[in-house]
Amino acid sequence: MTAPSTAQDIDAFLREQSNKDLLRFITCGSVDDGKSTLIGRLLYDSKLIFEDQLDALESDSKKVGTVEDGIDFALLVDGLQAEREQGITIDVAYRFFTTDNRKFIVVDAPGHEQYTRNMATGASHVDAAVILIDARKGVLTQTKRHTFISHLVGIKQVILAINKMDLVSYSGIQFEAIKEDYLAFAKQVGINTVIPIPLSALKGDNVLTRSATMGWYDGPTLQEALETLPAGGDLDALPMRFPVQWVNRPNLDFRGFSGTLASGTLSVGEKVMVMPSGKTSTVKGIHGQTGERTDALSGEAITITLEDEIDVSRGDVIAAAETPTQITDQFAAHLIWMTEQALLPGRQYLLKTGTATVNATVTEIKHAVNVNTLEHLSAKQLDLNAVAFCNLSLDRAIAYDPYKDNSVTGSFILIDRFSNQTIGAGMIDFGLRRATNLVWQDLDIDKAERARMKGQNAGVVWFTGLSGAGKSTVANLVEKRLHSLGKHTYILDGDNVRHGLNRDLGFTDADRVENIRRVGETAKLFVDAGMIVLVSFISPFRSERRMVRDMLEDGEFYEIFVDASLDVCETRDPKGLYAKARDGQIKNFTGIDSPYEPPERPDLHLNTADLAPEQAAEKVIEMLQQNRLI
Ligand code: ADX
Repeated sequence: MTAPSTAQDIDAFLREQSNKDLLRFITCGSVDDGKSTLIGRLLYDSKLIFEDQLDALESDSKKVGTVEDGIDFALLVDGLQAEREQGITIDVAYRFFTTDNRKFIVVDAPGHEQYTRNMATGASHVDAAVILIDARKGVLTQTKRHTFISHLVGIKQVILAINKMDLVSYSGIQFEAIKEDYLAFAKQVGINTVIPIPLSALKGDNVLTRSATMGWYDGPTLQEALETLPAGGDLDALPMRFPVQWVNRPNLDFRGFSGTLASGTLSVGEKVMVMPSGKTSTVKGIHGQTGERTDALSGEAITITLEDEIDVSRGDVIAAAETPTQITDQFAAHLIWMTEQALLPGRQYLLKTGTATVNATVTEIKHAVNVNTLEHLSAKQLDLNAVAFCNLSLDRAIAYDPYKDNSVTGSFILIDRFSNQTIGAGMIDFGLRRATNLVWQDLDIDKAERARMKGQNAGVVWFTGLSGAGKSTVANLVEKRLHSLGKHTYILDGDNVRHGLNRDLGFTDADRVENIRRVGETAKLFVDAGMIVLVSFISPFRSERRMVRDMLEDGEFYEIFVDASLDVCETRDPKGLYAKARDGQIKNFTGIDSPYEPPERPDLHLNTADLAPEQAAEKVIEMLQQNRLI
């Protein structure tokens, strides 16, 4: 049979192929290892369905989406679209082919420096990895990296394609040596199923047909191995998980929950539990694309109705009542960091798992992993392509499963709050505590009551700017004015707080993030106490200033950009620190060798090169009056 060329052909072809099972595998290796040649040979000699990049997939997805067996494509495209909406630039090609016994999806991640990211995004939900080795070179650093990341994303089976055997005279001794070398490493990583195959992609030995030149080898050819490997990834066999994408309420009589069944199967009459609330109900109806039905399989887009009127919202997971998900707001996970800007503990990111999006911070990097040696390293931050074991803390509880139990509900991505880019991928290892252990103590006297007694509104006036820009000077004058107006105030000043609460912190990016996180929490306590708190910190990063704004309620946070150019600050140099920084005596000095990110939309922008301190303070008072804080 030849490859179909039109959408109709593909439809028909897929229907015909629908009773064959499917194996997804990723190929790991570089061009030098002969990866393209190998894939080319597999596809050329097999019955290629079609080979294309994302665009073709996208335009065809609607057509194949209606086919009974169109799920795999639709799922794939959906998955990729989600990633694309998050702005991730992945460079992964998906190819489809069949043999007489099986259908295949080949995930091909290129081997350049973005490899970790591409592999991590491409390799989730695949059944096996084909890891290429050049027989002349043996196990290399990159072989180890591929193996480790494969393991990390849950791949349990590896075909070790020891290629270019023709260039080592088809030497069985060479093959055995590489095999032993690799098996030792794979065992250390925790991959137990390895099928080593000596082959020559160029000559075709042991790819589709058995090689006459390697009589000493009695294992399978590559094709045989691919056809017989267990196609794991049977999501239907896992406990039912249905992340709710949206609440479908076309009229008052109908309240359905729409989404894609992530794992397991679902039937009408089944008992379910809504996570994280834990409320239970029974499935009343299942609506698919072609109308009402009694069952659904994983991967299907459905809308379900429940017997009871219970609270369900986007981001909840409807789970099998007998085997519900776990719930937590703190967990340990393996993280792969995918962006140039380092991950800093304490910095807030968006975390997306299933359909839920929450705020998250890494509270602790337990260790980073040297993916070449598997060594554990201590790390204060994570750079591009770093892999680490971390503790994360969320601003509210999520439903999850450990990744080893369910790769869909156990995985998450981290998203930058400003650029909306996907910057990390993670696999949940275990929850650190049940979210319900810690409750808020209800107090009878509240924030409003405390502020009312002081005859004021509580709030934070946040001064940010370079050292020497005039933050403390202006804050001091503003406090005097507020004082004379009878307001209850307090000043948190960087230099002072760093003598006490934050004396353990220095001036690395990571320490500054923690510095601001702590002072933000402290400012919040002052607001809770009914005070007007003036905070004077360089606070160089947008991300943390935004985090503090978000910690407070509307109308409680005022950001004042105390702006003076580096030249001006350096000329003033009130503490002589710029001179020392220029002289190399102080490292990481803001404006010199550490960045300052000016506010994009401050509530007030003061240019202190042109304004006298008193004028600047007056403008702050006016702004606070306009906003009715005072
Ligand atoms: S922040 O960046 O973490 O917000 P913070 O406001 O607490 O800084 O502290 C800044 C003060 O620390 C400066 O006013 C200066 O007196 C002092 N300082 C000492 N070393 C540095 C440095 N490397 N960078 C900036 N400020 C420094």
